Amino acid sequence: MEQFKGQPRLPKFAVPKRYDIRLKPDLTACKFGGSVAVDLDIVADTRFIVLNAAEISVNAGSVSFTHQDSSKVFKPSKVEIFEEDGILVLEFGETLPFGLGDLAISFEGILNENMKGFYRSTYEHNAEKKNMAVTQFEPVDARRCFPCWDEPAWKATFKITLADVPSELVTLSNMPVVEEKVDGHLKTVSYLESPIMSTYLVAIVVGLFDYVEDHTSDGVKVRVYCQVGKANQGKFALSVAVRTLELYKEYFAVPYSLPKLDMVAIPDFSAGAMENYGLVTYRDAALLFDEQHSAASNKQSVAIVVAHELAHQWFGNLVTMEWWTHLWLNEGFATWVSYLATDNLFPEWQIWTQFLDECTGGLRLDALEESHPIEVEINHADEVDEIFDDISYTKGAFLIRMLQSYLGAECFQRSLASYIRKHASSNAKTEDLWAALEEGSGEPVNKLMNSWTQQKGYPVVSVKIKDQKLEFDQTQFLSSGSQGDVQWIVPITLCCGSYNARKSFPLQTKSGTLDIKEFLGCSIAETGSRGSNENNALCSWIKVNVDQTGFYRVKYDEELADKLRNAIENKYLSATDRFGVLDDSFALSMARQQSFASLLTLLGAYREELDFTVLSNLITTSYKLARIAADAVPELMDLINQFLIGLLQYSAQKLGWDPKPGESHLDAMLRGEILAALAVFGHDLTINEASRRFHAFLDDRNTALLPADIRKAVYVAVMQRVSTSNRSGYESLLRVYRETDLSQEKNRILSSLALCPDPIITLEVLNFLLTSEVRSQDAIMGLSVSSKGRETAWMWLKDNWEHISNTWGSGFLITCFVTAIVAPFASIEKVKEIDEFFKARPNPSITRTLKQSIERVHINAKWVQSVDSEKNLADVVKELVHRKY
Ligand code: BES
Ligand code: ZN
Repeated sequence: MEQFKGQPRLPKFAVPKRYDIRLKPDLTACKFGGSVAVDLDIVADTRFIVLNAAEISVNAGSVSFTHQDSSKVFKPSKVEIFEEDGILVLEFGETLPFGLGDLAISFEGILNENMKGFYRSTYEHNAEKKNMAVTQFEPVDARRCFPCWDEPAWKATFKITLADVPSELVTLSNMPVVEEKVDGHLKTVSYLESPIMSTYLVAIVVGLFDYVEDHTSDGVKVRVYCQVGKANQGKFALSVAVRTLELYKEYFAVPYSLPKLDMVAIPDFSAGAMENYGLVTYRDAALLFDEQHSAASNKQSVAIVVAHELAHQWFGNLVTMEWWTHLWLNEGFATWVSYLATDNLFPEWQIWTQFLDECTGGLRLDALEESHPIEVEINHADEVDEIFDDISYTKGAFLIRMLQSYLGAECFQRSLASYIRKHASSNAKTEDLWAALEEGSGEPVNKLMNSWTQQKGYPVVSVKIKDQKLEFDQTQFLSSGSQGDVQWIVPITLCCGSYNARKSFPLQTKSGTLDIKEFLGCSIAETGSRGSNENNALCSWIKVNVDQTGFYRVKYDEELADKLRNAIENKYLSATDRFGVLDDSFALSMARQQSFASLLTLLGAYREELDFTVLSNLITTSYKLARIAADAVPELMDLINQFLIGLLQYSAQKLGWDPKPGESHLDAMLRGEILAALAVFGHDLTINEASRRFHAFLDDRNTALLPADIRKAVYVAVMQRVSTSNRSGYESLLRVYRETDLSQEKNRILSSLALCPDPIITLEVLNFLLTSEVRSQDAIMGLSVSSKGRETAWMWLKDNWEHISNTWGSGFLITCFVTAIVAPFASIEKVKEIDEFFKARPNPSITRTLKQSIERVHINAKWVQSVDSEKNLADVVKELVHRKY
């Protein structure tokens, strides 16, 4: 039996065709019993059946295999679960006959509290604490509920029965109910058999809920289930779901494949949402929208999350990745398509511009030497959780966007539809997607894309202007400042302002040149007769990577960079390009390929910026650079804060504090971001006004002075004035936290509390996160501490590590603790300390994240040193502050 241990995948002795699963959850005792009958096809000479099971106890006497043709019953001589590999090995005394048979197993388990497998979540009903039973199986936890072939490629049909459930409870599964038998206070509900699907998509929910319902134009019944009394909060998600299903039916040219779609808000939920086939589960905050107390940003996330999960109903559920190596096909694609759908439903949100900022995580993570290729080898179930990261999601989404823009939207859609049709009800690998796109476009997609998905990292393209030629040169971009010698096929696009000229070509080698005359040729002819020797001067600015459709960064020579800065100041660039110049410049500065002073000077060009996405990026950039400056040049901090406050004055004055009648969604979101930034940079007027409005809010939770869109900003501002001798703001916020039953409100408060500059309060806040008042998935919201609280947070992490790793240790939430608290440090001494601490406490689920965080600390440390040694920095900052805005 030992031979089956330590294998990445199950042996192919038997193929499961159909599962008949009966589960009996006991919500009071928090346990469940169950039985499964699997129709199996034995396809190899074997005395063994090897499948997955973990943390359940299998009743060995119940296990039998009945051969269909002969009706012969085989009983195993040995039944053993190997917990560390999550496998169940059944050994028989003789070789099993080929062909179909029925494997029966009964088992028992507990409804755990870890938010994976079959678990319990809690809620209040009529002031009483209640349990609900919920499943979360992706990636590898169906095995914690019933024995199964728990790999995405073993697709089968599922027939589910829930037995002896209190009859007042709502019971849900992937398919509609086919039969319900009530027996006194208990009921037994069975569901229609599902189409073929992977185990990680099976789902069950049992609890008390209200719902709202609608249907699509072709009759798919859609419901949103919410906590009792909150059905209204499900209406927005419901309308998004109905419209999105209709849109995807068109886009993929295949209808939604199940008769119903349920979406449920689950109070304890580790991810944001999960695409279970026909039964999508969400955190409360990702599904519910309250007209009065939710913010515009909440509305937008609900739309994106719903669109994302529904995209999976095709990309993931109907066509499933063959193995976790291809996880990005699921997540990268769903991420990309969720923006496509949201843009369709809400064009005024300019969501494709926002995509650049929201999905910038891929570019940041992939600039680390400790990154990994999109197609990543997976050798053990433990390794899967950590790849639900920015590489799979946002680098994946970026690459799809890059390819779509290269091939053209129409051709892309047509080829996708044929990919879906070809692999429907089956599995696919990355190369299958490329093949479909290659066939549909006639372009060598496989060759183009392999350099992007099979190797980690991405290029920075340096552009120089010399002798009327543009010179392009690619090297790997690394935040550490090192240079790799990897190459990519880079889709270069460029535009030149004065002539409205555009050009695109693939850079297939390390470097290439482009003749400016040739590039501008026709445009010059069209505009007039100016001489070619003036080309350099004529070409007022050049922007490479037009609209940021390529997954790379651009480094301009000084002349080109100056011209671009001018173009930004004069508002010649599109918002996407303004975003790109800023984001690249920040990254280059961090990698010490550009000075800090020139980054600040560039920021100055954005003083009349009004675009939401560009400003959001400018604000996050400012937070980060202020953190580095505080370590490197503390004596300049007052000036730097003044400069950053000055940068935001123009937009702050345009927006004011109160919503304008009929103002845009983007302005509503922008106001909150700007006010929060002003508070963090210590702008007294903002903090005073925030405090005034907060007091009005404490008197009346419905006051018009504090609409949901600016609440987070006001809470952040309130926390800036809190200290051990002035605790009232903090205590009031805790009161609001305890009173509200809206998770988005709770989250706003949690994410503001630790931003207090007083480390003693920070410590109190961090301890509060560990109490039962904060659901474990929400605790991570409170980890973003102010620079002054950094050391305290690290001590706290060390002191509580055992408890933290026990509580959050079995999923990806634990990685957030490491990233939030370790990565912001900026000294080599700290690296040693961190290294030593974790060396003594090895934990496989944070291995990759820890390496990445430590690399970030190194990068920050080097950045701080180099900023410290910039001679002219003080003069540049003074000059920037004294410029009139
Ligand atoms: N399939 C994931 C949920 C998931 C994440 C399962 C990690 C197991 C481990 C789901 O489709 C998803 O991607 N959810 C996102 C929301 C989305 C809008 C990015 C999430 O949970 O953050
Ligand atoms: Zn997803």
